[in-house]
Order: sequence, then C-alpha cells, then structure tokens
Amino acid sequence: MRASFFWFLPLLLILASVAQGQPRPKPGIRRKPKPRPTPSFPQPHEPAEPTDLPPPLPPGPPSVFPDCPRECYCPPDFPSALYCDSRNLRKVPIIPPRIHYLYLQNNFITELPVESFKNATGLRWINLDNNRIRKVDQRVLEKLPGLAFLYMDKNQLEEVPSALPRNLEQLRLSQNLISRIPPGVFSKLENLLLLDLQHNRLSDGVFKADTFQGLKNLMQLNLAHNILRRMPPKVPPAIHQLYLDSNKIETIPSGYFKDFPNLAFIRMNYNKLSDRGLPKNSFNISNLLVLHLSHNKISNVPAISNKLEHLYLNNNSIEKINGTQICPSNLVAFHDFSSDLENVPHLRYLRLDGNFLKPPIPLDLMMCFRLLQSVVI
Ligand SMILES: *[C@@H]1O[C@H](CO)[C@@H](O)[C@H](O)[C@H]1NC(C)=O
Ligand SMILES: *[C@@H]1O[C@H](CO)[C@@H](O)[C@H](O)[C@H]1NC(C)=O
Ligand SMILES: *[C@@H]1O[C@H](CO)[C@@H](O)[C@H](O)[C@H]1NC(C)=O
Ligand SMILES: *[C@@H]1O[C@H](CO)[C@@H](O)[C@H](O)[C@H]1NC(C)=O
Repeated sequence: MRASFFWFLPLLLILASVAQGQPRPKPGIRRKPKPRPTPSFPQPHEPAEPTDLPPPLPPGPPSVFPDCPRECYCPPDFPSALYCDSRNLRKVPIIPPRIHYLYLQNNFITELPVESFKNATGLRWINLDNNRIRKVDQRVLEKLPGLAFLYMDKNQLEEVPSALPRNLEQLRLSQNLISRIPPGVFSKLENLLLLDLQHNRLSDGVFKADTFQGLKNLMQLNLAHNILRRMPPKVPPAIHQLYLDSNKIETIPSGYFKDFPNLAFIRMNYNKLSDRGLPKNSFNISNLLVLHLSHNKISNVPAISNKLEHLYLNNNSIEKINGTQICPSNLVAFHDFSSDLENVPHLRYLRLDGNFLKPPIPLDLMMCFRLLQSVVI
C-alpha cells in the first residue's frame, strides 16, 4: 500500500469496510442460496454425467392439497406457493393451476419442454436459479400471461429465451453461457424493469440498434462480466442503473450518457478506460448520483456535476488533483455557503486510493466539496 490517509468529517461508517479492502456489496445483486448437499449421497465433485446425479429425494408426507406434486412442498397457509427447490429434480413437476409462486431453484433440470407449466397459467413468479437448463421450448413461456418474475441465474443457456411473456418485470439470466440475443426478444416487454445478463459471453456484435427496442420502462440493465469492448448501443432512455463492470471497454462515445435523463448509477469498474477514451464531459450529467470507475487507467479526474454524491476512482493512474479545476461550482461564488445549499457540490464520498497521489488532501478540494464525509487517498 502506498500511503493511506483518511479524512473524517463527522459521521463515517461506510468507510469501515472499504478501509479493510473489502468491496461493498453491489446493489441489485442478490445472494443466492447454495445447493444443499444431499445427506445420503456425498458429492465431492461436480457431477459431469446425469448418471452421477444424486437420486431424487423420497416423496414427503401427503399434503392437505390433493393436487400437490409428491416431490414438492405445498405450505398449508400459503396455497399459491409451491416449493420444489433443492430436491434433485430432473424435470419440472406438474404444477397445479392455483400456483402463483413457484420455487424450483437448486435442482438438475436440463430443459423446459413444451408441456412444462401446462395449465399453470396463473404463475407470476418462477425461480429456476441454479439448474442446468440448456433449452427452453419457444411455446413454454408465452403461455404464462401473468408471469412477472423469471429467475434463471446459473444455468447453461446459450441464448436469451424467445417468446417471453409481455408482463415480465424482472428477467434474471446471469451466470449462463449466453452469447446470442435473438432479434426482437425484448420488443414486447414494455413492463420490464430489470434485465440482468451479467456473467455471460456477450460481445459487441450481439448488440444491434434494435436489441433493446421496446423496453420502454427498463430501469436496471446489468451487462457486467461480459466481453464488451464498446458501450452497448441504443440502451433504453428510461434507464436508471447501468452496470458494465469487468468488461474491456476502452472508450465512451461523445455524449453517450446525455440520452438518459434518469441515469443515477453508473458502474464501470474493471474496464480499460483511459483519458483518451473519455470525452471531457462524459460523466458531467445532471442526475448522476453514483459513479464507479475503479480499476481503469484514468489519469485525470473526470468532470462531474454538482449532484454527484459518490465517486470511485481508486486504482487508476491519477498523479495529481486540482480541486479548483474539478470543482463543479465556481469556488469563489459560494462563500455564503449556508444560504446556497443547492449550488454546493453534493459529493459526500470520494475514493482515490491506489493512484499515484500522496496525502495531504489539497485544500482547494476540501474548499469545494464541503459536504464530503470521507476521502480515501
Ligand atoms: C391440464 O388440464 C386439462 C384439462 O383440465 C387436463 O386434462 C390435463 O390433464 C392437464 N394437464 C396437466 C399437465 O396438468
Ligand atoms: C458540466 O456541465 C455543466 C452544464 O452543462 C457546465 O456548465 C460545466 O461547465 C461542465 N463542467 C465542466 C468541468 O466542463
Ligand atoms: C489549479 O487550477 C487552477 C485553475 O486552472 C489554477 O489557477 C491553479 O494554479 C491550479 N493549482 C495548482 C496547485 O496547480
Ligand atoms: C488497489 O489499490 C489499493 C490501495 O493502494 C492496493 O492495496 C491494491 O493492491 C490495489 N489493487 C490492485 C488490483 O491493483
């Protein structure tokens, strides 16, 4: 470690985890339960062949619901839910029509053939995380008009499933092998709020001008941990959170973020951004609150707006910092600080460690960012 210096203005709790070098939890990424090992069948290695799979669990006691699939659990006081998770299932059981919430995570399901979910047209929520799904029949999902949440993280899909139902609000497909997005798959998903495609194999060529067309209300797009070299084109303008960490992005086209009036969170840690690839006012946009640019090759602090509250620039190549230059307000203009809170830069948290900077923190920086609660250099 070069030099560590923490500047404490009154409260400062966030810093504790950072100072220990631990990344803060990423918003929007859920922790998923680990598959439970079966007690009778110790499994030291990942099974490679279906013959290696542990046997399905014996059926449980009879349920109060005569239509309850024997391999699942139907909670008596929650008749719209069906728990079939962590039961070594190879296929989707017959789902009763009364079910709205279906838990199938942590099994060994390999495909969703046409008869899956037949008659279960009331489904609103399906969790298929951590299975081995490679194939989804085109006709399976379109017959679920009420489906709002589809979770298929940690499967083996090579493309985004087609014929997604219109009312979908959340589609989670992280940790698959997705390298293709069929044309028009999202075109009718006007209600989709969250699209999670992180940890896949998406490259630049996959994204066409019309890929995201129709996603009028999309708020969060997560394309982190893919192999993008360029910014994705035509991202829906309603977007609020854009996550692109751990790609290979070198440049941002001029004015790229100007098209997104609501954009408040940008994460681009672990890319290949340098000053050359960053047009001057790339991130100087009015509603941005949080900007993550750690682990790039940036040597000058980019221009920011008054509204920005959190800025992460640690582990870049910054050699010097001039508080007057990066100050989004005119320093001399706000000597009457208390009466002019609107114009005081909102920055509260700034990370600059892992650069070529040495303490102390320049005075003009502190003069400008008077609401700063912590700076890490
Ligand atoms: C679906 O419903 C039809 C008509 O009620 C019934 O005959 C059929 O067995 C059901 N199929 C499944 C898979 O439950
Ligand atoms: C940031 O944008 C605002 C408004 O567009 C502009 O007035 C300001 O000069 C810009 N900041 C820098 C450092 O260019
Ligand atoms: C910082 O920038 C301002 C304005 O560009 C300049 O007048 C000042 O001399 C700079 N300060 C240092 C320490 O380089
Ligand atoms: C990031 O910077 C910190 C603080 O200087 C340093 O301890 C750490 O090794 C750096 N990480 C990488 C991956 O360079």
